[in-house]
Amino acid sequence: MKSEEIRQKFLKYFEANGHTIIPSASLVPQDNSSSLFTIAGMQPLTQYFLGSKHPAGVRLVNSQKCVRTNDIDEVGDKTHLTFFEMFGIWSLGDYFKEQSIKQSFDFITSKDHLGLDPSRLYATVFAGDPELAPRDNESFEIWKSVGMPEGRIYFLGAKDNWWSAGDNGPCGPDTEIFYDITEEGIGDLSHEEFVKATDNQKIVEIWNNVFMEYLKKDGKVVGKLEKQNVDTGAGFERLTTVLQKADSIFDTDLFSGLMAEASKFTSNTRSQRIISDHFRSAVFMISDGIVPSNTDRGYILRRLLRRAVTKTDKKKIEVAEIDSMVEVVVNKYEYAYPNLKTEEENIKKVIKEELEKFELTIEKGFKEFEKMKSKGVDGKEAFVLFSTYGFPLELTLELAKDEGIEVDVNAFYEEEKKHQEASRTASAGMFKGGLQDHSEMSVKYHTATHLLLAALREILGAHVEQRGSNINDERLRLDFSHGEKMTDEEKQRVEDWVNGAVMKDLGVSWSEVSVKEAKENGAVGIFEDKYGDTVKVYSVGEGDNVVSMEICGGPHVERTGDMGKFKILKEEAVSQGVRRIKAVLE
Ligand code: ALA
Repeated sequence: MKSEEIRQKFLKYFEANGHTIIPSASLVPQDNSSSLFTIAGMQPLTQYFLGSKHPAGVRLVNSQKCVRTNDIDEVGDKTHLTFFEMFGIWSLGDYFKEQSIKQSFDFITSKDHLGLDPSRLYATVFAGDPELAPRDNESFEIWKSVGMPEGRIYFLGAKDNWWSAGDNGPCGPDTEIFYDITEEGIGDLSHEEFVKATDNQKIVEIWNNVFMEYLKKDGKVVGKLEKQNVDTGAGFERLTTVLQKADSIFDTDLFSGLMAEASKFTSNTRSQRIISDHFRSAVFMISDGIVPSNTDRGYILRRLLRRAVTKTDKKKIEVAEIDSMVEVVVNKYEYAYPNLKTEEENIKKVIKEELEKFELTIEKGFKEFEKMKSKGVDGKEAFVLFSTYGFPLELTLELAKDEGIEVDVNAFYEEEKKHQEASRTASAGMFKGGLQDHSEMSVKYHTATHLLLAALREILGAHVEQRGSNINDERLRLDFSHGEKMTDEEKQRVEDWVNGAVMKDLGVSWSEVSVKEAKENGAVGIFEDKYGDTVKVYSVGEGDNVVSMEICGGPHVERTGDMGKFKILKEEAVSQGVRRIKAVLE
């Protein structure tokens, strides 16, 4: 079964079961959720688990583009990827455990659908945790009722069978479905044997049904949600690997074209996989507007591209080779993501420019290395070569070997770990931002962000679009497209504009309209990649006095007079063509 067919079967099955197909959201989280990337299908839907009504209904299905970078060092083995697609199926306060498990099981095993062998399936259910929720006996019983032998259902703790996207927001116990991918078939296993077989990847997780009925605040479960929801996720690449009986993710049709390209650069399989994975991620990231830079997402993109180059034998990817790698990805995926085709030339250009820069950096790194080498290169210096000059450790090691110099690799890793811990803490903190706690102050900052965007468009011009946003109880942060540093006068005018809207004590209201109508009314926001036909539009002001109109899930203040005085703290560059404003309400 080709990957395209798997995608179609999946969407069609759940559509036939009453789910509306919604498009994938961007890899760049919108709606003020502020983790670096979209990491799961449920993430863009968080507000709907918390009670907002989704315009496309209570049953949804899609394939969501995701990027997770915590396992970046594992990429190159059989299963890890940075970019992946997650199949998602959601019930927003509609059906719960029974229908969720039954339809998952039917889709996975029915001959008309995926047709996987039911005698190779295993399930895990939540064992209970005094801090979180009781043991999930209900799921256990449902599994038995569909014919899963009792001995193949395992109770596991929160580490394995509890899901949440961060310290704040919806969460709940899950039941995971595993499949035996060995040739001979393993059969019944004790609890310990099962855990071991999953560690050894003889049995792999293919499906995860999360029963989202609890709310977490600052890492603690604080109560139940208004409704019982289901968030089901399944890795598209993983399913494809299993269905195609491939030895690794890279041996599926999803990667055959890229691996063929990568084999021209090196004969090392691991390196080919890294080049393929990193290039595919880069193409999707750039298609969602990310550009290489030294911070946040741009930095991850830069690292992926540079790392891909260093895995080639020549430490170089020629322009024509960049073009064919991009084309392979675009051709493979444009049926599902048509924007890849429209962005194709831009993607090629961004990668070309970045790799040209990298060549220069490598040259600078060589010079720096020359300076260092007379007195030896210690691990710290090797790390400086890496972090400042983008000079990969393996290059340093190679050169050092030629010169007969030893580099303390452990010291390098120590430095790298310190650095990574710092950046992980930063991104974990970022997820907390968002609007998930709905505190009063955050709500005010959310409305202030809408006013700020409207003011920027009024004063700097209509080319200004939101590129990212992060809100906490103390300030707002807005990233927007604009080529130059703002002058003091412009900043003052923006402040005055926002404070003018606050002084007028304008009412804030929302309505649900069609995408077409929203566009015609001049609402700003992300139109592409948005669910269904209708969107929620928030307006500030009434009649002729509407000062802002934006597609958004809310929540917002009722009147702008409640907000306080708006003040810009800082205006700075984030990357080329993107500026950032930090501002407070006093
Ligand atoms: N959100 C769940 C996951 O990522 C389905 O596994």
